[in-house]
Amino acid sequence: MDKFVIRGGNPLLGTIRVSGAKNSALPCMAAAILTEDEVVLENIPQVRDIETERKLLVSMGGEVELGYGRAQHRTTISCRLLSDPVAKYEIVKTMRASSLVLGPLVARTGLARVAMPGGCAIGGRPIDLHIKGLETMGATITYEHGYIEARAERLKGAHINFDKITVTGTEDLLMAAVLAEGETVLENCAREPEVTDLAALLTAMGAKIEGAGTSIIRVQGVDKLHGARHRINPDRIEAGTFLVAGAITGGDLCIANCNPAHLSAIIGKLEEAGARIDILGKDSIRVRSEGQLKAADVSTEEYPGFPTDMQAQYMALATQADGTSVVTENIFENRFMHVQELVRMGANIKVDGRTATIRGKSPLSAAAVMCSDLRASASLVLAAMVADGESILDRVYHMDRGYEHIEEKLRGVGAQIRRMGNIFADKRELATAEAY
Ligand code: UD1
Repeated sequence: MDKFVIRGGNPLLGTIRVSGAKNSALPCMAAAILTEDEVVLENIPQVRDIETERKLLVSMGGEVELGYGRAQHRTTISCRLLSDPVAKYEIVKTMRASSLVLGPLVARTGLARVAMPGGCAIGGRPIDLHIKGLETMGATITYEHGYIEARAERLKGAHINFDKITVTGTEDLLMAAVLAEGETVLENCAREPEVTDLAALLTAMGAKIEGAGTSIIRVQGVDKLHGARHRINPDRIEAGTFLVAGAITGGDLCIANCNPAHLSAIIGKLEEAGARIDILGKDSIRVRSEGQLKAADVSTEEYPGFPTDMQAQYMALATQADGTSVVTENIFENRFMHVQELVRMGANIKVDGRTATIRGKSPLSAAAVMCSDLRASASLVLAAMVADGESILDRVYHMDRGYEHIEEKLRGVGAQIRRMGNIFADKRELATAEAY
């Protein structure tokens, strides 16, 4: 398995570019199921989860051309024939976001079979709200041999109030509603930019949607959708990770090709922690940190609050801040797996339930550490970049699921990071991974 070897101590200087958002690209690829025509997506990141989604669509009879290396990272998807509307366990177990095909499959073909995701490393991540919503829209749900089967001749518009805010749940039911008969009202929806991005694609395909980006979305179902071309939003979590990278290393980094409007909570928190941040226009941000960082508490929330997907990276920064920071994880249980690895590098962190208390500043010393999930890996990369000596990060396949060419990007701004091993040589599919 690949490893990263990182020598700490270099401030990051220069310009680093953000890729397209994996969490927008995944539902947008699933949306191609809704039409017989071609859907062309630009700014698709070259990350492992996208390759997994390609495999998933192909296994169902779709054609997916991932056009990396060409301008715009353009991907063309055709789901004209969907001969096998099944999301197989072998794929779902490596990427839980595979459950995003449930809504569009049943809406388009009247039948969806999706493997149940099973247990995972960051606590229970059920998809009961997706299923409940589809049932309210008239689907018959059965469970057999580890699969969920949803059937409906045509889904019917309905009023659905999510018991809990769910990002992929909102996306899944939105995709189901666009082809349903009549009006669907979704309440207590996720307001994440990824939902808005998906709604923009669906609208370009002919869907009638109002209110995406707010907690109430209204959809007037249509009989058919057509093809469309859409550009994926920049990845706000990758941008946030680079903001922390600039601040933690005492660097001066320009983060290009991002959307500052999606980063308000992260920017606000980093400024509170003593970083200097300037918005340089509509798609770029400069981050500097000359003085000592200071402790600041963080509580994860749904958008527009501080994202759970930045909690681990922020914690790496908190180890370098003077004073005590309290980090509260409100979205997922058991999302503190990076803590024990940070502690092995010299951090002073105590976890009590959903709360971690970090006492800083701790000098970090290089160590051999293990990546446990996508964002935890990012946290360890950040910590290793300020640790004294050479750290070795094992299981970086987690990082590859969501960060495009991360080591090249970081090397380009002065980090000492290299990859050991052959990126596609191991059987990483065997690992049960998480799609944050
Ligand atoms: C998405 C993101 C992930 C991010 C998360 C929260 C993708 C591919 N992944 O994950 O990166 O960390 O949003 O911002 O976009 N829940 C239920 N029942 C359900 C669905 C969710 O109880 O049917 C609970 C979950 O267990 C969790 C909370 O709701 O506690 C939020 O989860 P959700 O927003 O659904 O996360 P994902 O969409 O899986």
